[in-house]
Amino acid sequence: MISNLTRVISFDKIDNSEILDSKSKEMIKQFLKVERNYRYALNKMNTKIENMNDYCQMSYAHNPIHHTEARLKTPDSIIEKMKRRGYETTFESLKENLYDIAGMRVICNYINDIYQIVHLLTLQKDIRVKLRKDYIVNPKPSGYRSLHIVFEIQLCILDETMWVPVEIQFRTLAMDMWASLEHELRYKAKDMVSEAEKHSLRTYSDSLYEIDLGMQRLYIDKTAGGGRRDD
Ligand code: GTP
Ligand code: MG
Repeated sequence: MISNLTRVISFDKIDNSEILDSKSKEMIKQFLKVERNYRYALNKMNTKIENMNDYCQMSYAHNPIHHTEARLKTPDSIIEKMKRRGYETTFESLKENLYDIAGMRVICNYINDIYQIVHLLTLQKDIRVKLRKDYIVNPKPSGYRSLHIVFEIQLCILDETMWVPVEIQFRTLAMDMWASLEHELRYKAKDMVSEAEKHSLRTYSDSLYEIDLGMQRLYIDKTAGGGRRDD
């Protein structure tokens, strides 16, 4: 997952470009500097989450995380969102208004795992919560369920310290399956989904939630509360 984040464009290459004028060179360099911080923040968060999964495996004999995905928002998607929201398209406005330039999905096995991971993350001194939207407790009218949290993670680069936002969507495997298929359906149907079809999608989301709760009950019964090991 990290491998697609390691693309690095050196400033040398931009300076030596024969097709870019000096204003464009400066703009691209400034963008890359901003992007670099989000990339570092994403790398750091990804490592933290991997370590947390490892910690839970060792201490509780349980892997809360099924898998993770990470992405940096593309420049065209950044501009599209800023224009759609009516924000000025400047670097200052970008830093102030967009919290999902660095984004992750953490796909958990059980609903409890989501809240446990979030709790453990918030105990860390270099992480703080900026925004929290719980679409698990309050699903969207579409039936969408996930816990969205914008964390700020502290970065120390040379002598500079800064807090950079990283948005994480936490969901179970079942919620991820629903979100992924619903997204594809809407995309393929170009958003022409009838009221009856929308109703079906909401019903499927509720059924999957029931299954999530049932699987979790089974897991708790079978492991007598998680099977903590004290070794
Ligand atoms: P944007 O980031 O501009 O979309 O707005 P926002 O941050 O205010 O919205 P929100 O908290 O709803 O989160 C947006 C993200 O959640 C989207 O990019 C999707 O990944 C996901 N999402 C939200 N609603 C739905 C939905 O109904 N279906 C699916 N499949 N995904 C959704
Ligand atoms: Mg968002």
